[in-house]
Formats: sequence, C-alpha cells, structure tokens
Amino acid sequence: MALDSGLGRRIAACLCVGWALIGFSAFAKSQDASTIHPELWAAAPSGVLIRPEIETRIDQLLGQMTLDEKIGQMVQADIDAITPEDLKHYKLGSILAGGYAAPGHNVRSTPQAWLDLVDAYARAEVEPDGSGRKPVPILFGIDAVHGHAKIIGATIFPHNVALGAMRDPALMVKIGRATAEEVAATGIDWAFAPTLAVVRDPRWGRSYESYSEDPRLVASYATSMVTGLQGEIGTSDFMAPGHVLASAKHFLGDGGTENGRDQGLNVASEQVLANVHGAGYPAAIAAGTLSVMASYHSWQGTKMHAHHALLTDVLKGRFGFDGFAVGDWNAQEEIPGCTKFNCPETILAGIDMIMAPDSWKQIYENTLAEARSGEIPAARIDDAVRRILRAKALAGLLDEPLPKDRLAAGKFDRIGSAEHRAIAREAVRKSLVLLKNQHGLLPLKPQSKLLVTGPGADDIGVQAGGWTVDWQGDHNSNADFPGATSIYAGIKNAVTAAGGTATLSPDGSFTDRPDVAIVVFGEKPYAEFEGDLETLEFSPADRSALALLRKLHAQKIPVVAVFLSGRVIWVNRELNASDAFVAAWLPGSEGEGIADVLFTKPDGGVAYDFTGKLGFSWPRTAMPVRFDAADKPVDPLFPRGYGLSYHSHTELALLPEDPKPAADRGQPGTIFQAGHPTAPYSIYLVDDLAQIRMTTKLMPSPNGAATVALVNDGQAAIAWSGTGAATLKIAKKADDLSGFAKAGGAVSIRYRVDNAPASSVSFELICGETCKAALDATPIFKSAPVGRWQTIDIPLACFAEKGGDLTKVEAPFALKTDGLFGLTIASVTLHKEAVGAICPGV
Ligand code: BGC
Ligand code: BGC
Repeated sequence: MALDSGLGRRIAACLCVGWALIGFSAFAKSQDASTIHPELWAAAPSGVLIRPEIETRIDQLLGQMTLDEKIGQMVQADIDAITPEDLKHYKLGSILAGGYAAPGHNVRSTPQAWLDLVDAYARAEVEPDGSGRKPVPILFGIDAVHGHAKIIGATIFPHNVALGAMRDPALMVKIGRATAEEVAATGIDWAFAPTLAVVRDPRWGRSYESYSEDPRLVASYATSMVTGLQGEIGTSDFMAPGHVLASAKHFLGDGGTENGRDQGLNVASEQVLANVHGAGYPAAIAAGTLSVMASYHSWQGTKMHAHHALLTDVLKGRFGFDGFAVGDWNAQEEIPGCTKFNCPETILAGIDMIMAPDSWKQIYENTLAEARSGEIPAARIDDAVRRILRAKALAGLLDEPLPKDRLAAGKFDRIGSAEHRAIAREAVRKSLVLLKNQHGLLPLKPQSKLLVTGPGADDIGVQAGGWTVDWQGDHNSNADFPGATSIYAGIKNAVTAAGGTATLSPDGSFTDRPDVAIVVFGEKPYAEFEGDLETLEFSPADRSALALLRKLHAQKIPVVAVFLSGRVIWVNRELNASDAFVAAWLPGSEGEGIADVLFTKPDGGVAYDFTGKLGFSWPRTAMPVRFDAADKPVDPLFPRGYGLSYHSHTELALLPEDPKPAADRGQPGTIFQAGHPTAPYSIYLVDDLAQIRMTTKLMPSPNGAATVALVNDGQAAIAWSGTGAATLKIAKKADDLSGFAKAGGAVSIRYRVDNAPASSVSFELICGETCKAALDATPIFKSAPVGRWQTIDIPLACFAEKGGDLTKVEAPFALKTDGLFGLTIASVTLHKEAVGAICPGV
C-alpha cells in the first residue's frame, strides 16, 4: 500500500500556486496563539489519577513494549472500518462505534448483538501475537451522550440543554450512573461524554449538547456527570463494575465559535477562553475524568488539534490532567499540512490517541515511520502511551475478564430498567421551563376533554433528537423505542385514569370541540453541523406549526404549546399564538414526564410544579443574545434563570413579530452569500485522496488539487492547481427539490473567472453517495471574459435529464475540474423563476 508520509509537506508546496494566483496572504495565521499566560488559568489539583503501584506497572509495560505496540495504543479505529481479524495483526489502543456504526451495519441491533460484537473485538485484541507477552486490552468507546441512546430499548435521558434547566447536580450523578450501567451491560468501556461546551451562540447545531451558557453551571455538572459515569474518585466506587470511562469534550472553546459555526473560529480572548469556555475542565479533571476529547474548531487561527499551548501547557500542565487526550473524528485532517492519514503535528501538540475511524491503518504506519525517524520524539510517545495505559489500568481493564465474562455485562434488564426510566422521567419533569401561562391556564384538570396535536405529539424520535439510534437521529419511528412513551401517550395515560379524554389529531381538526388543545411541535432531529442555523428564527421554511396554533387560537380554544427544541430560539409568533408555552427541550424516552407537570392530581391539587429555569438567555430577535465585557447577557427576552411556576401570576404581553435578522443572514434561497455558506450548508472539497469540510477561511483539498479561500469582500475564491481532479461542493442533508424544479426552479451563480480553465469543467448536482448528475460547463467558463462578473442560471430540471434524483438533493451546486482554473464566486442561490435559462452543455 502506498502510505505516503511526505504527502502533507508536498501539499504545502502546491499551495503556493494558489497563493500566487489569488493572493491568500491575508489569511496567514493572524495571531500568535502559540503561547499562553499560565496565570490566567485555574490550577486544578493534580495527581488524582496517580497511584504509585500503577505507575510502576506502567514502567514495566513500557519497558517491554515494542515501538509498533506503542504506536498501536495511540490509534483508534471505527468498527465500520476494522474487523476483529484486523486486531490480530494491528494491536490498536481503541475502537469506537461512530454515529452510523453498529453490529452488522444494523443500528437497530439487539443489546446481545452489541455485546457479541464488543466481545469479539476484545478477544481478537488479546490473542497472543508471538511476543510471548499478553497484549494490552482494547478500549471500546461510544457516544452515550444522553443515555446509551444508540442501543434499542435504552433509557434515553433528556439532552444536556434540558438537564441544565433542571439545576440538579445530584440527579446528574444518578443519570451518569444509570448511563454507565447500560453502557457496561453491552460490554462497552467508554462514553464520549460529558460535553462541557459553554455555548454563546445557539445557532450552533450542537447547542443541545451544552448544559448552559453559564460556566458555573457547566462546571458543577462536569463534576456530577464524571462522577456518575466513572464513580467517585478516591473511593472504591471509582471505575468499579458498572462504571465506564468519561470523556470531557470538546477541549477547548467549542461553544464559542463565530456565528455559532460548527468546527469554526473562536476568537475569544485568552481570559474569556479560560474563564468562560474552560470552566468545566478543572472540575472534570478533579473528578478524575480519564480522557478529554479535543475539539475541531480553531482558537485565534490555530486548530485545537494542533494547539500545543492549550493541549499540553494548559490541559496537562496547568490543569494537571494525567489521563489521555483523544482526538475527534478525523479532526487531524483539518490541520494545515496534515491529511487524515498522516499528522505528526497533532501528536506533537499533545493528542495521545488519534480518532482515525477509516484512516487508522495509514496513520498507524505513518506515525510509526515518524517515530522511527525521530520526527516524533520517543519521550512524547512514551508520555502518550503512559497516559493511555494509566487510564486502562485505573479502569481495571488490564486485569479484567473479557467483556462477556464481566460482572456488569449481559445484564440486559438494566437497559431501559424501570429504575432508570424513573430517573429520566424525573429529569423531564424538572427540566420543563414554563415561559407563558396566561390567566393560569395550567395546570389542567385531568378530567378535561383534550385535543393533542402537532408533529411532535406522538413521535419519540422527535422528542429524542440527534445522537439517538444513529448520528442524526432523523430516521426513527416509535417502533424503535420499545418501553418508551410519547408525549401523547403520557397525556392519554394521565387523563384516562382520571376520567378525561385525550384525542390525537395530527392536523388539529376535531368533531367534538375540546376544552383545551395541546400542540406539540418544534425542531426536527439533527446533529453537529447539520443543525447549524443562519438565524434563530424558528422554522422559517415551514410555518405549518404556527398555522396550527393560530387556527386553534382563532377558534378560541385555549392552546398549550409544548415546544421541543435543542436550543433557545426565536418563537415570538408562536408565543403570541399560545395561551401557555412550555419549553420542553429534547426530553428523550420518557414522555410522561410532561403530563406529570401539566395536569393536577384528580383532586385538583398540584402534582408537580414547574421548577425548570432557563440555562440560556432566550433571544428577543432572530439574532443571538450578546454578552457584554462583564460577561452579562444583553437584553434577552427571558433572562437566564427565568421560568414561571404555578405560584407566578405573570401575564405576557403580545410580542413583536419581526425577527430582525442581520442583513447578510438567511435570505430565502441562499446557499452561499456574503462570504459564507448559508447554514446548514457547508463547503466541501473533494479530491482523489478524500473529502474535507471547510472550517477555516483558507483550506486546500486533501491532496492539494484545489484551494478555497473565503475572501474579505464576501466571496469564495477557488483555485484548482491542475494536479488532479477536485470538486467544490456546497451541501447539507438531502432536500426534496423535485417540486421546486418542476416549477422552473434554478440554481443561480454569480461568478468571475480569474484564470481560464485549462481542462474540462462540469456543474454537478449530488444526490447521495452514488447519485450525481453532471453538465458540461467547459464552453461557459472558457468563453467567459476573465476578470468580469457574470451570472448563470441553471434550471434544476437539467440535472434530472442527466440522471439526478431531485427528491434527495444534497448539493444543488458542485463544480469539478482537473486542470488549472481560478474562479471567484459571489453568490449561489436557488431561485424560482429562471426566465429563458437553458441547460448548459446541451
Ligand atoms: C463528534 C464527537 C463524537 C465523535 C465520535 C465527532 O464527530 O464531534 O463528539 O464523540 O464524533 O462519534
Ligand atoms: C459518524 C459520527 C461522527 C460524524 C463526524 C459520522 O459519520 O458516524 O460518529 O461524529 O460522522 O462527521
């Protein structure tokens, strides 16, 4: 196999072509973030993970291990790309089951199938390798970020945004413990949780993974969650059977990127980074977290995975962290000069274990070569391996029986047990925040005649959100959640028992006029960048829930809105159209928790009052709440800490219905404008080596065949170097654009040719991994005058003629060439009427 360790460096050479072509000099690293001021960072009590007898044992192990074995420990692969058979030859340190990975590629596998799979990998790893020594056991990790939610039948806890509103650190410990027990039942060792992001712009698609915008709350929960997952540090409970390793993530400042862009740019001062974004880490470290996961984003121009000062000087130095730093999913590929297959920079910066899902074999070989050549010093490798072995030793893994023979494994009755579900239901009750309760409409009498409606009323997938069953969580139905309860089912149970009625009506129609309508609606599931938003206006493209609220309101039926969302978001219109409004976040599998609070006991007494308080400032407009120099939120609609109870008698006046987005944000139909792709669209660069998502203002494709720069005057400049084919694409989750295409819809591109194409160019529409349609664009770009702005409209129907499936369009715009070519793009939009536009290349 060609394992090209010199590739990264050759890219740097290719880049110069791009620089000369379109003048990228303005994008060179703007600030020197390579040094930090240690005194700004809290010093955490260090040494909590150091046990002399374990250190001695590690000394012995390190003394015996070969360099190959050490490098193996530093690599983590995804089960989709590695087999147990592979582990007989490559003794890796860890494997994970990523968002879409599962036994037999079936995300709906049984817990038994998971245990079988985990056990098969673990057994293969410790098979004798001829060294005469027992190989080091493997660590198996999974994203159990709101319960063991990838596993069918698990207890799914509310997402972190909800838990923050509950303000109950003691219940957090129970949630961590229950999650750990369910993870351990499937033989898995490690949960990639908790997320300690302190989110400052809820347009970020990962906002629901954050407990709060308040660093103190995040810090207190960091202690609770790490303690729950791992057991209490300093006691015999620590990593006892039924506990799993935690991973505090994503280090450091993931919640502070500009415009809330996932994996984007954090430009906060060092002080803000330390005091706001860093707050959770000393707490997690003091509680003994065995791992910390680095973040994809950049701080002041440097990617976190390459940030020596933060990963080494702060995390391991100032914070005294003795566990190991794991990288994020191929995050090494975003470091300048690296590819996902080769990146000594990240190890030198302080990453101890590289998450290399599909790139593990090459990165293993390349890292080994770099260790042999001395490019990565032996001391750095020994330090990384020592940390990994320390975590394994503390977890008991070195001596523990294989997964199937463990005390906590195979206890499938713990998965979704009544006890765990009761904890989740309590968390649901405590996390609900009451924003409006006109004339004391709530609590409702369970003897009432109720209409239950809205797209979230009877949909457990919607109430569970992303990171559920699979990565995006957007293909789940109630059948995927045995033992769980929808919000409607919870309401029905509560009222039927008391002699009331609850009728489910998906469209809100009724024959028998109800006393009250409960409308459950909100965001559809998403994860990571697929959930990024351009503005905080709730659902601008689909106003059906608002129409439903307004219709019922106009009929003078009292309306209770139960709003499901992963974040605080602008809903003034929906608030105006409701009599009572409950922020229910993403409550997970125990939908009854909502009825528990909405209804009185049959005798009229309050059963459970609302106690949830906002962990985030609720925005007054579609733009996020700003924080002033003293870190105070400026003019929110509802401040952090807000939440009514049955004792409040607050009436909410009608709210303004103009969302007031910023001028360059969220124009309808925009895909790229004002120098950025319109969220959730992202720019991707694809070449023969790999595909990469653009997360900085200047990015080469993986092998350097093309380079994109977002330029200061709001444009994207792309230069193809002529070293091979490369595609620029602007994509997001698939959309059905067939109706739009039938109505004459077109993609409109405003562009300027900077350098005429040397070879053929094509427009592409991408509709899935193996689905695309191409139109020849060579004559257009060859004849276009260099340096002059032009606009072209391409009817989407043209792509259907070339075999494109317009019902699942991921990228309505992509451009491919393999020769030298320079182009600047000012905007890409989808617009309805392209008068006179014809198909290019026909
Ligand atoms: C996410 C992490 C996650 C990892 C493994 C990454 O894309 O950023 O939070 O733990 O994938 O699935
Ligand atoms: C994986 C996730 C990962 C994500 C990152 C997905 O394909 O399944 O685990 O977090 O990619 O982009």
